[in-house]
Amino acid sequence: MSQRRLFVTTALPYANGNFHIGHIMEYIQADIWVRFQRMQGNEVNFVGADDAHGAPIMIAAEKAGKTPQQFVADIAAGRKPYLDGFHISFDNWHSTDAPENHQLAQQIYLDLKKAGLIASKTIEQFFDPDKNMFLPDRFIKGQCPKCGAKDQYGDNCEVCGAVYAPTDLINPYSAWSGATPVLKSSEHFFFKLSDPRCVEFLENWTQDGKLQPEVANKVKEWFSVRENADGTISEGLGDWDISRDAPYFGIEIPDAPGKYFYVWLDAPVGYLASLKNLLDKKGLNYDAYMTDPALEQYHFIGKDIVTFHTLFWPAMLHFSGRKTPDNVFVHGFLTVNNGEKMSKSRGTGLDPLKYLSLGMNPEWLRYYLAAKLNARNEDIDFNAEDFMARVNSDLVGKYINIASRAAGFISKRFAGQLGEVSADGTALLASLREQKDSIEQLYESREFAKALRETMLLADRINEYVDQNKPWVLAKQQGMDARLHDVCTVCIEAFRLLTIYLKPVLPALAAQVEDFLKTGSQSFQDSAATLGSGHLIGDYTHLMQRVDVKQLDALFEAPAAPEPEKLTPGGEALAPTITIDDFAKVDLRIAKIVNCEPVEGSTKLLRMTLDAGEGKMRNVFSGIASAYKPEDLIGKHTVLVANLAPRKMKFGISEGMVLAASHADDKVQPGIYVLEPLPGAMPGMRVG
Ligand code: 2FM
Ligand code: ZN
Repeated sequence: MSQRRLFVTTALPYANGNFHIGHIMEYIQADIWVRFQRMQGNEVNFVGADDAHGAPIMIAAEKAGKTPQQFVADIAAGRKPYLDGFHISFDNWHSTDAPENHQLAQQIYLDLKKAGLIASKTIEQFFDPDKNMFLPDRFIKGQCPKCGAKDQYGDNCEVCGAVYAPTDLINPYSAWSGATPVLKSSEHFFFKLSDPRCVEFLENWTQDGKLQPEVANKVKEWFSVRENADGTISEGLGDWDISRDAPYFGIEIPDAPGKYFYVWLDAPVGYLASLKNLLDKKGLNYDAYMTDPALEQYHFIGKDIVTFHTLFWPAMLHFSGRKTPDNVFVHGFLTVNNGEKMSKSRGTGLDPLKYLSLGMNPEWLRYYLAAKLNARNEDIDFNAEDFMARVNSDLVGKYINIASRAAGFISKRFAGQLGEVSADGTALLASLREQKDSIEQLYESREFAKALRETMLLADRINEYVDQNKPWVLAKQQGMDARLHDVCTVCIEAFRLLTIYLKPVLPALAAQVEDFLKTGSQSFQDSAATLGSGHLIGDYTHLMQRVDVKQLDALFEAPAAPEPEKLTPGGEALAPTITIDDFAKVDLRIAKIVNCEPVEGSTKLLRMTLDAGEGKMRNVFSGIASAYKPEDLIGKHTVLVANLAPRKMKFGISEGMVLAASHADDKVQPGIYVLEPLPGAMPGMRVG
């Protein structure tokens, strides 16, 4: 079989946070496939990089008091323990802020421009006057134009699901500074995806059968004019806004001072930049590599970034005269213990580094995820009980057990040498070898769950053979040495075959087994051979522990409770932070205490008549009788919560609340102090 040449990537993670389990799942999926390809003798360049640019990272850096470069460098410095820890075999890890990416992104843009596919248009956008910057949609919040829900993001409403432009928001504010954004126009560059050449190319590229069927179907919808669920009309492929104005952490657009590429333009170019960086290090020519007609290019991605990878990216490559991906492999989301979906910004539940720090075996996770992964973009769930069951009963109980049942006899009774295999054992081993092609096919097509299921069925067969032959009984019987040797040899030969079949998933374990069996590195084609009688194996040391339920408990244990909060002199801790918008919900007004009198039958309450500038009086009861004589309050101004729902009290309806200060515990510090504004405040003035 001739060697294939493969260029494989995973999605480039934003450099604004550590990896969460969703990233690790994608890397494990890609790594299993890559390791399988390498075992097949194919040449693979498997690369990743940090996705360094964009407004959110700029903003995060500012908040952290760092330059964006320093910020992303610090994140990058934390990648290695995850990648090494889970045996992810990237050949290179780079950054989209690296020089290769600046150069490649600019060149691709110039090539697209030459092809007549870049347009410019003046558009109006929200601008944060405090921060002097155009705001990304995610950083504009306000009231939903459809349902009125407050604090909704600039692109869609999480309450009613409406989709809109940030400019449609009611009372918009900058989630960054809190300022009210202003509309400002500026020139933007667009990639003309609506150009008939692009539409034709993409219709073909996405529908020619390479994509997963469910992905191709989804993508198909984007080409047609259609009515959305909310009644709006989508027009098919629209032009793509690829520029952002300075200040922006990104790559400058050639011949356009102050204009930068939108992060999603240069992010996928980062795949090429990381590859180029790798090839340069190896002394190989990037252009020659990329123009090799035999080169196959694959991207593993999550289902949330399909548009970028099946429309924008192939079109960018094709119309800049470059090779397009051979395929994009889309996976679903990972949930943990049926929890929320792994969101990009907040991983949930399973912290990968905590997993490792608890001494949990990374290959348990690789095995478990592989046992759930298939070639479709379905969501999968990490379930703690299921994890323990699969690792303990399948991986250890069925597979590892085969070696542990046989190896002791081989070393103690036969000086570590394998023996002759009789007909039944030979037949059994042959039946294992027969599955090789099918298992290879399953790995190739990313049907890892099926590959493991087939392998475990083979393990079942060996275990049945062991149960039938009972080596522990043979060992005690006179004259049964040869049979014992035979049975244990079959087990060891079988164990080697299964190890080959599991090697893409369990690379470290396979290396240990290769050591123990003294075979040297094995690949699928080595399954045809036998170790043979007389082959000397090493001493068996236990290859893999079982999962201990205590480890899982510790893994999912809530982080330690925070330190008891320091009490303020007021006797209670500060309430959780609210947004300016939360605060704005409370309508505080200056009110004049026109009248104040005791309440008959109450020792606590005073009845106040307030003028809040509304042309009518309000009746408010306040529990301040212990602190004030009514006549002392008449004529003073105070602060009224004016939009509090009226409350029916024993003595009448209270139409608001007067603000007063007190210690949380009046035994510690008695006293109530009604708020009074400095002179000049007039009834009806808003306080805020
Ligand atoms: O969604 C994300 O996390 C992006 N950073 C993925 C980019 S993939 C590629 F285009 F770089
Ligand atoms: Zn809404």
